[in-house]
Amino acid sequence: MNNLNLMRKTDEVNGAKTLTNLCYDIINGEVNLNIYNSSARDKLWSNNTLEANIDAGQEILSFAIFPVRFNHENIGLLLFKSDRSNFFSEMEFPFYQDVAEALGIAFKHQIANFNLRERVKELTCLYNIATLTASQELSLDEILDSIVKILPSGWLYPEAAQARIVFEEKIYSTPEFRPGFDKLVSSLIVNNIQLGTIEVIYTEKKPEIDEGPFLKEERNLINTIAKEIGIIIERRLASIEKEKLKEQLRHADRLATIGQLAAGIAHELNEPLGSILGFAQLSQKNDKIPAQVSKDLNKVIDASLHAREIIKNLLVFARQTPAKMVPIEINEVVKECLDLLSGRMFKEGIKIEVALSEDIPQILADPSQINQVMVNLIVNSMQAMPVGGDLRIETSADSDVVYITVTDSGIGMDEQIIKQIFVPFFTTKDVNEGTGLGLAVVHGIVSSHGGQIKVNSKLGEGSKFEIQLPIKSVE
Ligand SMILES: Nc1ncnc2c1ncn2[C@@H]1O[C@H](COP(=O)(O)OP(=O)(O)OP(=O)(O)O)[C@@H](O)[C@H]1O
Ligand SMILES: [Mg+2]
Repeated sequence: MNNLNLMRKTDEVNGAKTLTNLCYDIINGEVNLNIYNSSARDKLWSNNTLEANIDAGQEILSFAIFPVRFNHENIGLLLFKSDRSNFFSEMEFPFYQDVAEALGIAFKHQIANFNLRERVKELTCLYNIATLTASQELSLDEILDSIVKILPSGWLYPEAAQARIVFEEKIYSTPEFRPGFDKLVSSLIVNNIQLGTIEVIYTEKKPEIDEGPFLKEERNLINTIAKEIGIIIERRLASIEKEKLKEQLRHADRLATIGQLAAGIAHELNEPLGSILGFAQLSQKNDKIPAQVSKDLNKVIDASLHAREIIKNLLVFARQTPAKMVPIEINEVVKECLDLLSGRMFKEGIKIEVALSEDIPQILADPSQINQVMVNLIVNSMQAMPVGGDLRIETSADSDVVYITVTDSGIGMDEQIIKQIFVPFFTTKDVNEGTGLGLAVVHGIVSSHGGQIKVNSKLGEGSKFEIQLPIKSVE
């Protein structure tokens, strides 16, 4: 007796079907047991495999199959075999079916347990990452380095998992990370731009699941982590930017205070200095003074004139000298400076490259002050190239701003120096070479024109100063 009339037609045509194939077909749902069995509980059996044309293996004459189901899906089956024909009796089937049902429930538990463990792993991984990112003390480098170490723990085979984060030019990875294995990749998007990737690999071959050897939940996990990292980076970049702005404000504030102080002192000194100079010049007019005294008076006059120059510069820095604003062509001012200095630069082995844009509108500015800015910048560059080098002067403009840049291939500056260059009397030069007022004056002039000055320099690699002056409507 058997119920094998439910076999597919093609199988009959092709001769004997193997029991193994039949089992696979049942599991894959290609044999619909329900069509043939009116009872809700499925079974498939044969008490005579020869008659049923089933190749069940050597000496197997009877078999009975009971699908193990879960969520209306066959997840396995219970197969009984016997070398005797007519071994199975339909009376026993309910018992076997109960066993199959119990197995289905057990598997269901097993799968639920497995899923739960995986979710706990993933959530723990996410939680650890969230804890890390909440920490304010860690740098971005430290955070990414720690995240990459946490990542493998969230995957199905943590012992075989390795991770890597690539962000801009930096790479953070676990020690055994190697390219060329099965991997899950997600993009790191920062401010809508892809700036890197995050990858997890298995260093051993693992069975195929949803996406290669990876679970579909792991795809969600890696995407969530990539998003989380993107947000951390965005936040960090924003706070660095904020810090920079604050520092600039503090710097501007310090310079303004120094400016007020300098202006106060300059005014105080101006009067006595005027007297010293005046009386020295008056005394010198006296014919009766000895030659040596006249020589000494000359020194007093020279020193006083030098001091007056310094005071003038201090007042410019402190913006106490009002600018006389007229419409000017920036390129013309630049050319005048170059005419003045190019001879000296040529002698000192400095090669000058000039790139002046044709489309620069007139701007309102004080030509003699802008001239002073250029001279101070160019002289600094010359002094930074004692054995010659390259000097590049460039002008350009956009709709609101005119840019003048002076770039040299000189000695450059370190961070510490850059921080102080606009402070009056800050100098790294010998007493006779510099007073440290050049850039303070440049700063004062540029600020009083409503502009900005930017510095880019590296020790040993040269410096670039960029002046930005606003274009206001010139009537
Ligand atoms: N192009 C440059 N390359 C390297 N260092 C520079 C450059 N420009 C300025 N510096 C540094 O900044 C300092 C301050 O410059 P600043 O022009 O204010 O004063 P100074 O040149 O020393 O003296 P002064 O300009 O009053 O004669 C310099 O002493 C130098 O260390
Ligand atoms: Mg100078």
